Amino acid sequence: MTEAKPVIVFDSGVGGLSVHRAIRERLPDLPVLYVADDAAFPYGDWEEGALVDHVVALMADLVAAHDPAAVVIACNTASTLVLPPLRARFDIPFVGTVPAVKPAAERTRTGVIAVLATPGTMRRDYTRELIRTYAKDCHVRLVGAPDLAAIAEAHMRGEPVDEAAVRAQIEPCFIEVDGARTDIVVLGCTHYPFLRTIFERVAPWPVTWIDPAAAIARRLEAVLGAGREGGTAPSFAVFTSGRRPPPRLERVLARLGLPVGNLTGAARTPK
Ligand code: DGL
Repeated sequence: MTEAKPVIVFDSGVGGLSVHRAIRERLPDLPVLYVADDAAFPYGDWEEGALVDHVVALMADLVAAHDPAAVVIACNTASTLVLPPLRARFDIPFVGTVPAVKPAAERTRTGVIAVLATPGTMRRDYTRELIRTYAKDCHVRLVGAPDLAAIAEAHMRGEPVDEAAVRAQIEPCFIEVDGARTDIVVLGCTHYPFLRTIFERVAPWPVTWIDPAAAIARRLEAVLGAGREGGTAPSFAVFTSGRRPPPRLERVLARLGLPVGNLTGAARTPK
């Protein structure tokens, strides 16, 4: 059997694993190189021009080393900014992850929705344009949570979570406008689905949480098309810092079919 080209699933950290999980369910045999740019985490704090330059340069190295069939930018903070320069520079399909404003506007019953994201995604023109285009008849509360992605990273490493801190970060999503309360919260950062059980526990009232991962997996499948080769290329995860993840996270990665590998030229071979 020939080695199929891998698909790169890319995030600033382990949040993109929520997207990888959905891709795995839909395309179990797809070789995936999961790239966590942990050396640069969190993207939510970066100045826009610097983040574009950083991601394009890193992608140039990854594309040269791995010749991917497609790349999934499993990060809202990056996708809302770098998809146009990536598509202009590389002749491969890029699938992005952007806040699921449209499905939220279609599903809300109260007309009050919240978008929970990083401060970077909250500031983006792209996000504001999504709201203007798809949710102009809704009241939308856009919340930039400064600490949630880092809390999710710590949770994935097996560290305890301060639930009061989580509650403080999500609380601004819960509003009442003319007697109507928020009924949908868009998870606008790929790290957040890993905190969802805690969100449900500490939320002031029950809401529907929208996670776009399954839709991204469907989009990837459509982009790859029917002619996709089967293959035996290994799937694995790399961390740009070169640090080995703690044992609990390594077990999570192993369960997701992603042993930890190297970023260097030898990256096609897992450690
Ligand atoms: N997982 C990323 C996202 O979807 C962002 C986390 C960060 O680096 O700030 O936005």
